[in-house]
Amino acid sequence: MTFSHDVVIVGAGGAGLMAALYAKEGGADVGVVSKLHPLRSHTGAAQGGIGAALGNMEEDSWLWHAFDTVKGSDYVGDQDAIETMCKDAPRTIVELEHYGVPFSRNKEGKISQRRFGGHTRNFGEAPVRRACHAADRTGHTILHTLYDQCLKNDVRFYDEFQVLDLIMNDDDECAGVVAYEILTGEIHTFHAKTVCFATGGFGRAFKTTSNAHAGTGDGMSIFLRNGLPLEDMEFVQFHPTGLYRLGILITEGARGEGGILRNSDGERFMERYAPTVKDLAPRDLVSQCIYQEIRQGRGIKGKEYVHLDMTHVGSEILEKKLPEITMFSRTYLGVDPLKEPIPVAPTAHYAMGGIPTDYDGRVEIGQRGDIMPGLYAAGECACVSVHGANRLGTNSLLELVVFGRRAGMAMAKEVKEGKDFAAMPDNPEQRTRDMLDTILSRNDGEPVVNVRNDLQETMMDNVSVFRNDETLTTALDDLQELRERANNVVVRDKGKKFNTELMDAVEIQFMVDYAEAVAASAHHRTESRGAHSREDFPKRNDDDWLQHTLFHSDGKGNFEFGRKEVAITRFQPKERKY
Ligand code: FUM
Repeated sequence: MTFSHDVVIVGAGGAGLMAALYAKEGGADVGVVSKLHPLRSHTGAAQGGIGAALGNMEEDSWLWHAFDTVKGSDYVGDQDAIETMCKDAPRTIVELEHYGVPFSRNKEGKISQRRFGGHTRNFGEAPVRRACHAADRTGHTILHTLYDQCLKNDVRFYDEFQVLDLIMNDDDECAGVVAYEILTGEIHTFHAKTVCFATGGFGRAFKTTSNAHAGTGDGMSIFLRNGLPLEDMEFVQFHPTGLYRLGILITEGARGEGGILRNSDGERFMERYAPTVKDLAPRDLVSQCIYQEIRQGRGIKGKEYVHLDMTHVGSEILEKKLPEITMFSRTYLGVDPLKEPIPVAPTAHYAMGGIPTDYDGRVEIGQRGDIMPGLYAAGECACVSVHGANRLGTNSLLELVVFGRRAGMAMAKEVKEGKDFAAMPDNPEQRTRDMLDTILSRNDGEPVVNVRNDLQETMMDNVSVFRNDETLTTALDDLQELRERANNVVVRDKGKKFNTELMDAVEIQFMVDYAEAVAASAHHRTESRGAHSREDFPKRNDDDWLQHTLFHSDGKGNFEFGRKEVAITRFQPKERKY
């Protein structure tokens, strides 16, 4: 079937839903195509808060927020986009509240705010309470509220339709997308005047991750396969506190409410590394410090984890402000945080890089301003870039709503100003049909799970918090072999209805594409910056690397790099000290 909409949005997390709402409000006819039911989107897993300088608990300013974000990004975030986001944050929170988000309250009845890593007052003086939260279920409440608003505004949803290709015509215009309907196995064309990808991140490329199973980076690979570049893929965030072995998120809000990291000596080791902000240093630093402690033999019981001590925080805070992580710890590890410290270790959490866009969500295909009409991206799959080399906690939910909204408004405007449907090429679904037929017709080969396990293992061992030439070369060699294996997996289910095994087989091909983008970009950047810590190049090198990386690939293991300048407006690069 062919469906037509002015605006087609791929993905129904916070960014997709916000884009849908604003495109609709701007008068466009909107369809949202999502491989999951919207309420299962990964936005729902965001726990601790959304950043905005409301100043409800103490003095704050959007400029301090912007400075912290630039410094957190290790000066490779684009400052024009960062200013846009931080200035718009307070308005955004009020809007979310008016939509119905049930934010927690302080004693005065205002929206409650708490401390988070890297957020400070007065340009680094001391931690500030900037994270607006709904207990520790902030993303969950935002996702549900935005979905309600979309339903109220008659946004059309196509749930459990997995987008597998972009449709580009002979004039290099985007005409829409191709999707596989998971329930029926039918393939559909979506013809659109504008398309926005909001497909989320790719934490599932790593063995230990906080990400949902759906975090397989499909959107990014679809862009690569259509000859479009990805930006800054080397910058992958490891959240310092995942439940040991499981990777399940224990919010930074736990440290914001007083939790302390301790090594096997019981020492509060962050005091040594970040004397001003201590446990509330940014994530890149805290994750690196945890691994330093482990490497120096101070992991708990000689193992690869440390303790998050909440025992002094009290039941009032744990049960009322942090009920979710209290329950996770009890349920998954049998550890009651009221009585004993929680075993934690870094977990793959967030992609700072992705599809290059300007701050209206327009996809950039080369240098700044070099945009592709009608094509947009927002949320984690996009690289605006407000996070640079390291995102501050709470800025992801903020980015979703700020830039999702801007993309929605820009698409509605483009449509209103006369953007028409681009011409459809002949047989837009052919490539997708061929890909699925090839997989289904194969009767011998290995199951997807073997390839996925090996991919996750090599990415975790070789491309995680610390990297060097040897580990990255190993990963790239492994990925070449994994590409071959991913192209030859076998699926036992040959049916049409709910063939999730078939979708797994497609996803593993996508996973190889973006895993290669991550490993190759990390190999290319011969310096350490933010979350990209090269043991063989331990220093930041602004002379050669104060720039964004653009990764291009032919999807067959051949790739090349470009570079893009960083926007610097107010804050000149300095050494980061916390
Ligand atoms: O720690 C957290 O609650 C995660 C928040 C974030 O990634 O922004």
